[in-house]
Amino acid sequence: MGGAATFIFGAVMLRLSAEEQAMLSGELGPGVRKAMEIVVALGQIYGASRLIEVESVQVAGVSYRNLGEAGLEFLSRWADQGVRVRVPTTLNPAGMDLRAWRELGFPESFAQRQLAVIEAFQRFGVHTTCTCTPYLVGNVPHPGEHVAWAESSAVSYANSVLGARTNREGGPSALAAAITGRTAAYGLHLDENRSATLRVDVHCPVQSLSDFGALGYLVGKAAGNRVPYFVGLEIEAGLPCPYLKTLGAAMAASGAVALYHVAGVTPEADRPDVLAPGHADSASPQALVVDDLQPAYAALNSDVREIDLAWFGCPHAGLEEIAEVVRLLGGRRVRAALWITAAREVRQQAQAEGLVTAIEASGGRVVADMCAVVAPMQELGFRTVATPSAKGATYLPSHAGLLVRYGTVAQCVEAAVSGVWRD
Ligand code: F3S
Repeated sequence: MGGAATFIFGAVMLRLSAEEQAMLSGELGPGVRKAMEIVVALGQIYGASRLIEVESVQVAGVSYRNLGEAGLEFLSRWADQGVRVRVPTTLNPAGMDLRAWRELGFPESFAQRQLAVIEAFQRFGVHTTCTCTPYLVGNVPHPGEHVAWAESSAVSYANSVLGARTNREGGPSALAAAITGRTAAYGLHLDENRSATLRVDVHCPVQSLSDFGALGYLVGKAAGNRVPYFVGLEIEAGLPCPYLKTLGAAMAASGAVALYHVAGVTPEADRPDVLAPGHADSASPQALVVDDLQPAYAALNSDVREIDLAWFGCPHAGLEEIAEVVRLLGGRRVRAALWITAAREVRQQAQAEGLVTAIEASGGRVVADMCAVVAPMQELGFRTVATPSAKGATYLPSHAGLLVRYGTVAQCVEAAVSGVWRD
């Protein structure tokens, strides 16, 4: 290999190390070259001057429902080139529980194609744990660490709550980062883009998980891709934090927020320069006051009353969230279906603690590997869903064709027990 090289694309100078140059020239094979071409192309588009090494990757675009035959073929052909990931890499949720799909009623035709997608990722050396909360199953980046994650809620959590650094990667760009171990140095990898650009003053109580989702829904709509700085938001610190997980997921769904700060809570909020010039004053035009969450509850609710499914675990549930549903059920049987989606490892922990048995005794399920938004829910017979997830409530109508009731965890549990939504 020769020395470092500088590639000039228009006015942009992207400096590559000797190893990166070798990847780009095809010395490490056509599959690696293709990956490096993607990384370099993104660097070119975003004006990066260098690449940086990433410590982990999380790949999205896993459900066969979204990928289709074209996506599966793209993955398979790339895997056929013998490429392997260079850094620990996990997957976003699939369109079904990879083990219990048959008993849950997933169609055989869908299941076989979904399993083929997973098998293609396995050939890359990807750890095929399928979850949107990799930080709940041991992939916890350190503050300042560079990663390349794709799932929007996980990106938000990594940047904001853990203080790690990632842009919101797409499916192919995340896989390219995994194969090369690199991403281009732009966006949220750089100090100058991590300051807040929208001050948010919270002037109303924000208490429950669904309140945090409602707040995130409202702020995401207003913020777009700006970086909010919350003032007046009281959260008990301690990780993992389901409230911050929910807040970030909602902002990433209704807007494109990939980083936020909460005064006195998140790791970069106390940086002296955290508020970009012109955004520090609550009287500035770049400030938002939230004093009522009801508009979010109104926007996320349809007027349906019969409930087919109560869905918890969006983003994927932690142990304490599963325990909360068990507590609220109090041993009662459900009339509607009740699903809690979680990472398989979290499900195993829940099983060890007797929580899965308790949920199943009530007629519910703790479902691993999957997300209802990217699953063939109508084919399973579901038409209406109750959920305490603002992200789920945002996406389920448009992506899964379901009517949604959005409310507290307790309201959703009651809807599962009675089969009817009550305000
Ligand atoms: Fe996760 Fe799906 Fe919700 S990916 S955040 S369970 S929409």
